Amino acid sequence: MKYLLVFLTAVQLWRQHVEADQRGRVPLGDETILLCEISGTSDRLSQITWQRTIKGKAPDDVFLTIQPRIGPKYSNGEDLRFQFIGNFDKKNGTLKFSNVTLKDEGSYTCIFSLFPSGKQSRTSQLVTLVPPNTNLMSYTPIEGNEEVPLATCKAAASKPKAEVKWIKDSLEGKVREELNETQHANGTTTIWSTLVGKPVREMNGQSVKCVISSETMKEEILETNIQVLYSPGEVTVTERSEDSFECATEANPNATFTWTRVGQSLPASVIVEGGLLQFPSRTSDLSGLYQCEAENTVGKTQSFVFVQISSVSAVVPWVLFALLLVLNIAVLGYLCFSGKRSGWECFLWRKEHQQNNFCENSPFQGSV
Ligand SMILES: *[C@@H]1O[C@H](CO)[C@@H](O)[C@H](O)[C@H]1NC(C)=O
Ligand SMILES: *[C@@H]1O[C@H](CO)[C@@H](O)[C@H](O)[C@H]1NC(C)=O
Ligand SMILES: *[C@@H]1O[C@H](CO)[C@@H](O)[C@H](O)[C@H]1NC(C)=O
Ligand SMILES: *[C@@H]1O[C@H](CO)[C@@H](O)[C@H](O)[C@H]1NC(C)=O
Ligand SMILES: *[C@@H]1O[C@H](CO)[C@@H](O)[C@H](O)[C@H]1NC(C)=O
Repeated sequence: MKYLLVFLTAVQLWRQHVEADQRGRVPLGDETILLCEISGTSDRLSQITWQRTIKGKAPDDVFLTIQPRIGPKYSNGEDLRFQFIGNFDKKNGTLKFSNVTLKDEGSYTCIFSLFPSGKQSRTSQLVTLVPPNTNLMSYTPIEGNEEVPLATCKAAASKPKAEVKWIKDSLEGKVREELNETQHANGTTTIWSTLVGKPVREMNGQSVKCVISSETMKEEILETNIQVLYSPGEVTVTERSEDSFECATEANPNATFTWTRVGQSLPASVIVEGGLLQFPSRTSDLSGLYQCEAENTVGKTQSFVFVQISSVSAVVPWVLFALLLVLNIAVLGYLCFSGKRSGWECFLWRKEHQQNNFCENSPFQGSV
Protein backbone atom coordinates (compact mmCIF):
# COMPACT_ATOMS: atom_id res chain seq x y z
CA MET A 1 0.00 0.00 0.00
CA LYS A 2 2.71 2.36 0.97
CA TYR A 3 4.71 1.67 -2.22
CA LEU A 4 1.74 2.35 -4.44
CA LEU A 5 1.16 5.73 -2.82
CA VAL A 6 4.73 6.83 -3.34
CA PHE A 7 4.58 5.75 -6.97
CA LEU A 8 1.38 7.77 -7.61
CA THR A 9 2.90 10.86 -6.08
CA ALA A 10 5.92 10.55 -8.30
CA VAL A 11 3.77 10.33 -11.42
CA GLN A 12 1.78 13.33 -10.30
CA LEU A 13 4.94 15.35 -9.81
CA TRP A 14 6.23 14.43 -13.23
CA ARG A 15 2.97 15.56 -14.79
CA GLN A 16 3.10 18.89 -13.08
CA HIS A 17 6.57 19.47 -14.32
CA VAL A 18 5.79 19.42 -18.00
CA GLU A 19 3.68 22.45 -18.60
CA ALA A 20 2.11 24.07 -21.54
CA ASP A 21 0.18 27.32 -21.53
CA GLN A 22 -3.42 26.74 -20.55
CA ARG A 23 -4.65 30.31 -20.98
CA GLY A 24 -5.41 29.77 -24.62
CA ARG A 25 -7.82 32.61 -25.43
CA VAL A 26 -6.00 35.26 -27.39
CA PRO A 27 -7.47 38.42 -28.95
CA LEU A 28 -6.93 38.72 -32.70
CA GLY A 29 -3.56 40.28 -33.53
CA ASP A 30 -2.22 39.93 -29.99
CA GLU A 31 0.72 37.86 -28.88
CA THR A 32 0.72 34.93 -26.52
CA ILE A 33 3.27 32.76 -24.81
CA LEU A 34 3.29 29.07 -25.65
CA LEU A 35 4.87 27.93 -22.42
CA CYS A 36 6.67 24.58 -22.43
CA GLU A 37 9.15 23.50 -19.84
CA ILE A 38 10.24 20.40 -18.02
CA SER A 39 12.02 20.08 -14.72
CA GLY A 40 12.92 17.47 -12.17
CA THR A 41 14.68 15.21 -14.65
CA SER A 42 18.36 14.70 -15.32
CA ASP A 43 17.63 12.82 -18.57
CA ARG A 44 19.48 14.00 -21.63
CA LEU A 45 17.38 16.20 -23.95
CA SER A 46 18.10 15.74 -27.64
CA GLN A 47 15.31 17.82 -29.25
CA ILE A 48 12.26 19.93 -28.54
CA THR A 49 9.61 19.61 -31.26
CA TRP A 50 6.63 21.94 -31.70
CA GLN A 51 3.68 20.70 -33.69
CA ARG A 52 0.17 21.92 -34.19
CA THR A 53 -3.19 20.75 -35.48
CA ILE A 54 -5.06 23.61 -37.08
CA LYS A 55 -7.66 23.92 -39.81
CA GLY A 56 -6.17 24.01 -43.29
CA LYS A 57 -3.04 22.01 -42.37
CA ALA A 58 -2.36 18.33 -41.99
CA PRO A 59 -2.71 17.15 -38.37
CA ASP A 60 0.39 17.21 -36.22
CA ASP A 61 2.14 19.65 -38.51
CA VAL A 62 5.67 20.14 -37.18
CA PHE A 63 6.48 23.84 -37.46
CA LEU A 64 9.56 24.27 -35.27
CA THR A 65 12.33 22.11 -33.86
CA ILE A 66 14.97 23.13 -31.36
CA GLN A 67 18.23 21.22 -31.09
CA PRO A 68 21.38 21.82 -29.09
CA ARG A 69 24.01 23.93 -30.94
CA ILE A 70 21.68 24.35 -34.01
CA GLY A 71 18.96 26.19 -32.09
CA PRO A 72 15.42 26.78 -33.43
CA LYS A 73 14.66 25.73 -37.00
CA TYR A 74 11.37 26.34 -38.83
CA SER A 75 9.91 23.48 -40.79
CA ASN A 76 7.08 23.53 -43.37
CA GLY A 77 7.72 27.17 -44.10
CA GLU A 78 9.26 29.92 -42.03
CA ASP A 79 6.77 31.68 -39.76
CA LEU A 80 8.58 34.46 -37.94
CA ARG A 81 5.63 34.98 -35.65
CA PHE A 82 6.97 32.07 -33.60
CA GLN A 83 9.96 33.16 -31.59
CA PHE A 84 11.92 30.83 -29.32
CA ILE A 85 12.34 32.55 -25.97
CA GLY A 86 13.17 29.52 -23.79
CA ASN A 87 16.50 27.97 -23.00
CA PHE A 88 17.39 24.59 -24.37
CA ASP A 89 19.93 23.80 -21.66
CA LYS A 90 17.31 24.51 -19.02
CA LYS A 91 14.87 22.25 -20.88
CA ASN A 92 12.68 25.25 -21.64
CA GLY A 93 11.03 25.25 -25.08
CA THR A 94 8.79 28.29 -24.58
CA LEU A 95 7.70 30.26 -27.68
CA LYS A 96 6.37 33.74 -28.09
CA PHE A 97 3.65 33.75 -30.74
CA SER A 98 2.67 37.12 -32.16
CA ASN A 99 0.05 38.49 -34.57
CA VAL A 100 -2.38 35.68 -33.84
CA THR A 101 -5.07 35.21 -36.51
CA LEU A 102 -8.27 33.18 -36.74
CA LYS A 103 -6.46 30.57 -38.84
CA ASP A 104 -4.08 29.86 -35.97
CA GLU A 105 -6.80 28.34 -33.84
CA GLY A 106 -6.15 24.78 -32.82
CA SER A 107 -3.93 22.68 -30.60
CA TYR A 108 -0.21 23.25 -30.03
CA THR A 109 2.00 20.47 -28.69
CA CYS A 110 5.59 20.55 -27.51
CA ILE A 111 7.48 17.29 -27.36
CA PHE A 112 10.65 16.71 -25.36
CA SER A 113 12.83 13.90 -26.74
CA LEU A 114 14.53 12.57 -23.61
CA PHE A 115 17.04 9.80 -23.09
CA PRO A 116 16.54 7.29 -21.65
CA SER A 117 12.92 7.97 -20.63
CA GLY A 118 11.56 8.72 -24.13
CA LYS A 119 9.13 11.40 -25.28
CA GLN A 120 7.10 13.67 -23.08
CA SER A 121 4.54 16.03 -24.55
CA ARG A 122 1.94 18.56 -23.54
CA THR A 123 -0.78 20.09 -25.61
CA SER A 124 -2.62 23.35 -25.21
CA GLN A 125 -5.54 24.81 -27.13
CA LEU A 126 -5.43 28.18 -28.76
CA VAL A 127 -8.69 30.06 -29.31
CA THR A 128 -8.66 33.37 -31.14
CA LEU A 129 -11.06 36.02 -29.89
CA VAL A 130 -12.30 38.73 -32.22
CA PRO A 131 -13.78 41.97 -30.96
CA PRO A 132 -16.93 43.12 -32.77
CA ASN A 133 -17.11 46.02 -35.18
CA THR A 134 -19.84 48.06 -33.61
CA ASN A 135 -22.22 50.56 -35.07
CA LEU A 136 -25.53 52.16 -34.21
CA MET A 137 -27.68 53.73 -36.88
CA SER A 138 -31.08 55.34 -36.79
CA TYR A 139 -33.54 55.38 -39.62
CA THR A 140 -35.67 58.35 -40.64
CA PRO A 141 -39.19 56.96 -40.88
CA ILE A 142 -42.17 59.15 -41.67
CA GLU A 143 -44.78 59.42 -38.93
CA GLY A 144 -47.32 56.66 -39.28
CA ASN A 145 -49.29 53.81 -37.78
CA GLU A 146 -47.22 50.91 -39.07
CA GLU A 147 -44.37 49.46 -37.06
CA VAL A 148 -41.04 50.26 -38.65
CA PRO A 149 -37.36 49.95 -37.68
CA LEU A 150 -36.23 53.00 -35.72
CA ALA A 151 -32.61 52.15 -34.91
CA THR A 152 -30.27 49.20 -35.41
CA CYS A 153 -27.31 48.32 -33.25
CA LYS A 154 -24.80 46.03 -34.88
CA ALA A 155 -21.92 44.01 -33.45
CA ALA A 156 -20.23 42.50 -36.48
CA ALA A 157 -17.93 39.52 -36.96
CA SER A 158 -17.01 38.86 -33.35
CA LYS A 159 -15.93 35.71 -31.59
CA PRO A 160 -17.50 34.71 -29.39
CA LYS A 161 -20.84 36.33 -30.20
CA ALA A 162 -21.33 39.75 -28.62
CA GLU A 163 -24.33 40.76 -26.55
CA VAL A 164 -26.47 43.79 -27.24
CA LYS A 165 -28.76 45.52 -24.76
CA TRP A 166 -30.76 48.72 -25.11
CA ILE A 167 -31.31 51.59 -22.74
CA LYS A 168 -34.55 52.95 -24.10
CA ASP A 169 -35.23 55.78 -21.67
CA SER A 170 -38.44 57.52 -22.72
CA LEU A 171 -39.18 54.94 -25.41
CA GLU A 172 -39.53 52.15 -22.84
CA GLY A 173 -42.74 50.28 -23.54
CA LYS A 174 -43.28 51.92 -26.92
CA VAL A 175 -40.80 49.90 -28.93
CA ARG A 176 -39.74 46.30 -29.12
CA GLU A 177 -36.44 44.65 -29.99
CA GLU A 178 -35.81 42.32 -32.88
CA LEU A 179 -32.63 40.28 -32.82
CA ASN A 180 -30.97 38.76 -35.88
CA GLU A 181 -27.70 36.94 -36.22
CA THR A 182 -25.51 35.44 -38.91
CA GLN A 183 -22.58 33.08 -38.57
CA HIS A 184 -19.65 33.58 -40.88
CA ALA A 185 -17.48 30.84 -42.35
CA ASN A 186 -14.45 32.09 -40.41
CA GLY A 187 -16.17 31.33 -37.11
CA THR A 188 -17.28 34.84 -36.25
CA THR A 189 -20.87 35.96 -35.69
CA THR A 190 -22.65 39.19 -36.52
CA ILE A 191 -25.66 40.24 -34.51
CA TRP A 192 -28.15 43.02 -35.13
CA SER A 193 -30.68 44.30 -32.68
CA THR A 194 -33.34 46.55 -34.12
CA LEU A 195 -35.77 48.75 -32.20
CA VAL A 196 -39.13 48.51 -33.89
CA GLY A 197 -42.15 50.68 -33.19
CA LYS A 198 -44.80 52.99 -34.56
CA PRO A 199 -43.08 56.23 -35.48
CA VAL A 200 -44.87 59.09 -33.76
CA ARG A 201 -43.66 62.69 -33.72
CA GLU A 202 -43.17 62.65 -29.93
CA MET A 203 -40.34 60.16 -30.46
CA ASN A 204 -38.35 62.53 -32.61
CA GLY A 205 -35.10 63.53 -30.96
CA GLN A 206 -35.41 61.05 -28.07
CA SER A 207 -32.16 59.38 -27.23
CA VAL A 208 -31.57 55.64 -27.02
CA LYS A 209 -28.39 53.83 -26.07
CA CYS A 210 -27.05 50.50 -27.18
CA VAL A 211 -24.76 48.58 -24.82
CA ILE A 212 -22.48 46.06 -26.49
CA SER A 213 -20.50 43.58 -24.45
CA SER A 214 -18.11 40.89 -25.54
CA GLU A 215 -15.26 38.88 -24.09
CA THR A 216 -12.63 40.99 -25.83
CA MET A 217 -13.65 44.46 -24.81
CA LYS A 218 -15.20 46.43 -22.02
CA GLU A 219 -18.83 47.41 -22.45
CA GLU A 220 -19.23 49.86 -25.26
CA ILE A 221 -22.13 52.30 -25.16
CA LEU A 222 -23.36 53.93 -28.34
CA GLU A 223 -26.02 56.60 -28.39
CA THR A 224 -28.29 57.94 -31.07
CA ASN A 225 -31.37 60.10 -31.37
CA ILE A 226 -34.52 58.63 -32.83
CA GLN A 227 -35.66 60.47 -35.90
CA VAL A 228 -39.23 60.70 -37.13
CA LEU A 229 -40.19 62.91 -40.04
CA TYR A 230 -43.54 64.64 -39.68
CA SER A 231 -45.54 67.29 -41.43
CA PRO A 232 -45.99 70.77 -39.95
CA GLY A 233 -48.39 70.66 -37.01
CA GLU A 234 -50.37 73.63 -35.80
CA VAL A 235 -49.27 76.80 -37.59
CA THR A 236 -49.37 79.81 -35.31
CA VAL A 237 -49.35 83.42 -36.40
CA THR A 238 -48.21 85.89 -33.77
CA GLU A 239 -47.93 89.62 -33.83
CA ARG A 240 -44.26 90.43 -33.65
CA SER A 241 -44.40 94.23 -33.72
CA GLU A 242 -46.76 96.98 -34.84
CA ASP A 243 -46.34 96.07 -38.44
CA SER A 244 -45.32 92.45 -38.59
CA PHE A 245 -46.59 88.93 -38.02
CA GLU A 246 -44.65 85.78 -37.58
CA CYS A 247 -45.69 82.38 -38.71
CA ALA A 248 -44.28 79.39 -36.81
CA THR A 249 -44.75 75.64 -36.62
CA GLU A 250 -43.21 72.38 -35.49
CA ALA A 251 -42.04 70.05 -38.21
CA ASN A 252 -39.25 67.65 -39.10
CA PRO A 253 -37.48 68.51 -41.28
CA ASN A 254 -37.94 72.23 -40.55
CA ALA A 255 -40.74 73.79 -42.53
CA THR A 256 -40.36 76.61 -45.01
CA PHE A 257 -43.02 79.32 -44.99
CA THR A 258 -44.84 80.94 -47.85
CA TRP A 259 -47.01 84.02 -47.32
CA THR A 260 -49.63 84.78 -49.91
CA ARG A 261 -52.62 87.06 -50.08
CA VAL A 262 -55.81 85.17 -50.72
CA GLY A 263 -57.36 86.01 -54.07
CA GLN A 264 -54.75 88.58 -54.99
CA SER A 265 -51.05 88.75 -55.51
CA LEU A 266 -48.95 89.89 -52.59
CA PRO A 267 -48.75 93.73 -52.56
CA ALA A 268 -45.35 95.06 -53.52
CA SER A 269 -44.99 97.06 -50.30
CA VAL A 270 -45.34 93.95 -48.14
CA ILE A 271 -42.05 92.38 -47.11
CA VAL A 272 -41.75 88.65 -46.55
CA GLU A 273 -38.76 87.21 -44.79
CA GLY A 274 -39.09 83.51 -44.07
CA GLY A 275 -42.01 83.25 -41.65
CA LEU A 276 -42.16 87.01 -41.16
CA LEU A 277 -44.81 89.19 -42.87
CA GLN A 278 -44.17 92.93 -42.62
CA PHE A 279 -46.27 95.97 -43.49
CA PRO A 280 -43.85 98.90 -43.45
CA SER A 281 -46.39 101.12 -45.17
CA ARG A 282 -49.73 101.05 -43.39
CA THR A 283 -52.18 101.80 -46.12
CA SER A 284 -55.73 100.54 -45.96
CA ASP A 285 -55.52 98.87 -49.35
CA LEU A 286 -53.27 96.29 -47.71
CA SER A 287 -56.20 95.06 -45.60
CA GLY A 288 -57.21 91.55 -46.44
CA LEU A 289 -56.84 87.84 -45.81
CA TYR A 290 -53.29 86.52 -45.84
CA GLN A 291 -52.23 82.91 -45.80
CA CYS A 292 -49.14 81.39 -44.28
CA GLU A 293 -48.32 77.96 -45.58
CA ALA A 294 -45.77 75.85 -43.74
CA GLU A 295 -44.36 73.07 -45.86
CA ASN A 296 -41.77 70.34 -45.58
CA THR A 297 -41.03 67.10 -47.44
CA VAL A 298 -43.83 65.32 -45.56
CA GLY A 299 -46.71 67.72 -46.00
CA LYS A 300 -48.08 71.21 -45.59
CA THR A 301 -50.39 73.13 -43.28
CA GLN A 302 -51.93 76.58 -43.63
CA SER A 303 -53.09 79.33 -41.35
CA PHE A 304 -54.91 82.53 -42.28
CA VAL A 305 -54.77 85.96 -40.83
CA PHE A 306 -57.14 88.77 -41.65
CA VAL A 307 -55.29 92.04 -41.57
CA GLN A 308 -57.32 95.22 -41.38
CA ILE A 309 -55.61 98.55 -41.62
CA SER A 310 -58.22 101.23 -40.95
CA SER A 311 -56.11 104.36 -41.24
CA VAL A 312 -52.65 105.57 -42.20
CA SER A 313 -52.63 107.87 -39.18
CA ALA A 314 -50.37 106.82 -36.35
CA VAL A 315 -52.98 108.04 -33.83
CA VAL A 316 -55.91 105.91 -34.98
CA PRO A 317 -55.34 102.33 -33.91
CA TRP A 318 -55.39 99.53 -36.38
CA VAL A 319 -57.88 96.85 -36.04
CA LEU A 320 -56.75 93.53 -36.99
CA PHE A 321 -58.59 90.36 -37.58
CA ALA A 322 -56.98 87.08 -38.03
CA LEU A 323 -58.96 84.23 -39.34
CA LEU A 324 -57.40 80.85 -39.13
CA LEU A 325 -59.32 78.02 -40.56
CA VAL A 326 -59.20 74.25 -40.16
CA LEU A 327 -60.80 71.90 -42.68
CA ASN A 328 -64.44 72.87 -42.49
CA ILE A 329 -65.43 75.89 -40.51
CA ALA A 330 -65.57 75.25 -36.79
CA VAL A 331 -64.03 78.21 -35.13
CA LEU A 332 -61.92 77.89 -32.09
CA GLY A 333 -61.17 81.45 -31.58
CA TYR A 334 -59.66 83.65 -29.07
CA LEU A 335 -59.66 87.30 -28.56
CA CYS A 336 -56.74 89.32 -27.55
CA PHE A 337 -56.20 92.93 -26.76
CA SER A 338 -52.72 94.25 -26.81
CA GLY A 339 -53.46 97.45 -25.03
CA LYS A 340 -49.94 98.49 -24.24
CA ARG A 341 -49.10 99.61 -27.74
CA SER A 342 -51.27 102.44 -29.10
CA GLY A 343 -54.44 100.45 -28.82
CA TRP A 344 -54.02 97.59 -31.21
CA GLU A 345 -56.84 95.21 -31.11
CA CYS A 346 -56.53 91.89 -32.56
CA PHE A 347 -59.08 89.23 -32.95
CA LEU A 348 -57.81 85.92 -33.92
CA TRP A 349 -60.21 83.28 -34.97
CA ARG A 350 -58.24 80.34 -35.75
CA LYS A 351 -58.83 77.26 -37.56
CA GLU A 352 -56.27 74.86 -38.69
CA HIS A 353 -56.13 72.76 -41.65
CA GLN A 354 -53.75 70.12 -42.86
CA GLN A 355 -52.60 69.61 -46.41
CA ASN A 356 -53.81 71.83 -49.16
CA ASN A 357 -57.46 70.98 -49.54
CA PHE A 358 -58.48 74.22 -47.88
CA CYS A 359 -59.45 75.93 -51.06
CA GLU A 360 -61.92 73.26 -52.07
CA ASN A 361 -63.58 73.19 -48.68
CA SER A 362 -63.58 76.70 -47.45
CA PRO A 363 -66.55 78.97 -47.85
CA PHE A 364 -64.20 81.84 -47.10
CA GLN A 365 -62.50 81.50 -50.40
CA GLY A 366 -65.21 83.26 -52.33
CA SER A 367 -66.05 85.87 -49.80
CA VAL A 368 -62.61 87.40 -49.45
C1 LIG B 1 3.03 41.75 -36.69
O1 LIG B 1 2.16 42.83 -37.05
C2 LIG B 1 2.82 44.07 -37.04
C3 LIG B 1 1.80 45.14 -37.29
O2 LIG B 1 0.87 44.77 -38.26
C4 LIG B 1 3.91 44.08 -38.12
O3 LIG B 1 4.58 45.31 -38.12
C5 LIG B 1 4.90 42.97 -37.81
O4 LIG B 1 5.84 42.87 -38.85
C6 LIG B 1 4.18 41.64 -37.67
N1 LIG B 1 5.14 40.67 -37.19
C7 LIG B 1 5.31 39.50 -37.75
C8 LIG B 1 6.35 38.64 -37.15
O5 LIG B 1 4.63 39.12 -38.69
C1 LIG C 1 11.06 29.40 -19.62
O1 LIG C 1 11.19 30.52 -20.46
C2 LIG C 1 10.17 31.47 -20.31
C3 LIG C 1 10.38 32.56 -21.31
O2 LIG C 1 11.67 33.08 -21.27
C4 LIG C 1 10.15 32.00 -18.88
O3 LIG C 1 9.10 32.91 -18.74
C5 LIG C 1 9.98 30.86 -17.94
O4 LIG C 1 10.06 31.30 -16.58
C6 LIG C 1 11.05 29.81 -18.16
N1 LIG C 1 10.81 28.67 -17.29
C7 LIG C 1 11.67 28.28 -16.36
C8 LIG C 1 11.25 27.10 -15.55
O5 LIG C 1 12.73 28.84 -16.21
C1 LIG D 1 -34.54 39.79 -38.81
O1 LIG D 1 -35.22 38.56 -38.92
C2 LIG D 1 -36.58 38.68 -39.23
C3 LIG D 1 -37.21 37.31 -39.22
O2 LIG D 1 -36.42 36.41 -38.57
C4 LIG D 1 -36.74 39.35 -40.59
O3 LIG D 1 -38.10 39.51 -40.89
C5 LIG D 1 -36.07 40.70 -40.55
O4 LIG D 1 -36.11 41.30 -41.83
C6 LIG D 1 -34.64 40.57 -40.12
N1 LIG D 1 -34.09 41.90 -39.94
C7 LIG D 1 -32.91 42.24 -40.40
C8 LIG D 1 -32.47 43.62 -40.08
O5 LIG D 1 -32.21 41.49 -41.06
C1 LIG E 1 -14.79 36.94 -40.82
O1 LIG E 1 -15.74 36.92 -41.87
C2 LIG E 1 -16.56 38.09 -41.94
C3 LIG E 1 -17.58 37.87 -43.00
O2 LIG E 1 -17.01 37.47 -44.19
C4 LIG E 1 -15.68 39.29 -42.24
O3 LIG E 1 -16.46 40.44 -42.31
C5 LIG E 1 -14.65 39.43 -41.13
O4 LIG E 1 -13.77 40.48 -41.42
C6 LIG E 1 -13.85 38.15 -40.96
N1 LIG E 1 -13.02 38.29 -39.78
C7 LIG E 1 -11.74 38.06 -39.76
C8 LIG E 1 -11.01 38.32 -38.51
O5 LIG E 1 -11.13 37.63 -40.74
C1 LIG F 1 -34.68 73.89 -37.33
O1 LIG F 1 -35.32 74.83 -36.50
C2 LIG F 1 -34.81 74.88 -35.18
C3 LIG F 1 -35.69 75.82 -34.37
O2 LIG F 1 -35.97 76.96 -35.08
C4 LIG F 1 -33.36 75.31 -35.21
O3 LIG F 1 -32.82 75.34 -33.90
C5 LIG F 1 -32.58 74.32 -36.06
O4 LIG F 1 -31.24 74.74 -36.18
C6 LIG F 1 -33.21 74.18 -37.44
N1 LIG F 1 -32.53 73.09 -38.14
C7 LIG F 1 -32.06 73.23 -39.37
C8 LIG F 1 -31.43 72.02 -39.96
O5 LIG F 1 -32.16 74.27 -39.99
